[in-house]
Amino acid sequence: MLEKSMVDNAIEAEAPASSDLASDTQATISAEIMDLQRQYFEAPAAETQPRYDYPPYRSTILRHPTKDFHHADPETIELIAPAFGPRDVDALEADLTIQASGDPIGERIIVTGRVLDGDGRPVSAQLVEIWQANAAGRYIHKRDQHHAPIDPNFTGVGRCLTDSDGSYWFRTIKPGPYPWRNHYNAWRPAHIHFSLFGRQFISRMITQMYFPGDPLFDLDPIYQSIRDQRARDRLVATYDHEVTSHEENTGYRWDLVLTGSSSTWMEPEDGE
Ligand SMILES: [Fe+2]
Repeated sequence: MLEKSMVDNAIEAEAPASSDLASDTQATISAEIMDLQRQYFEAPAAETQPRYDYPPYRSTILRHPTKDFHHADPETIELIAPAFGPRDVDALEADLTIQASGDPIGERIIVTGRVLDGDGRPVSAQLVEIWQANAAGRYIHKRDQHHAPIDPNFTGVGRCLTDSDGSYWFRTIKPGPYPWRNHYNAWRPAHIHFSLFGRQFISRMITQMYFPGDPLFDLDPIYQSIRDQRARDRLVATYDHEVTSHEENTGYRWDLVLTGSSSTWMEPEDGE
């Protein structure tokens, strides 16, 4: 199952750098977002990746690099195919609604799509891992103590391998939005975290999938740290009635592109 450290990193990245920072209001954060967006429109550049230093996302102040990047030769192990752990990926691990003896609470959804390379070719037999909050917006994690119920029948983690045409498939519960301590009354849009190992360790991608029409997009400094609207749009799944199944699940489709100008936003390894 999913490495715990990966979930730890994601949860802890959303924690504030200091509790004092949570005193800023949404109006303050939104004004900063608008100011940065205005600067971007005045000098547009193809910023399809999030800024490492994005002040409205407060914890980037301490986490972003302050020195120039430098190239380092990958270790030999990083140049060969990833190993997925001590046991095979079971097909049942793609269904997050059957991990316990009881049914998890919430809207059942199917999330499916394809993993493609920059030339539109399918990326097959690749590990796709997801983790997410439950329907009430709560993670099972010691750092998540906000007042929402844990669902004893929902862990929020799953994984699968892409098939020969690059397709992946998960059945899960639609996650709820949740508060975080970036500022006062800060809420994250509902999202599912994705991790993909490409054909090499060095092409690993960690990103988030959002749901269409979320009212929190404009308020969220993580979503807004991506300046290019088309790049943001690529993080939002599409409702697909063909994926919806009769009296069972609603359905969403979301494709990921690992490389090229249409590539999905990729998080830094220690980012949220
Ligand atoms: Fe999250």
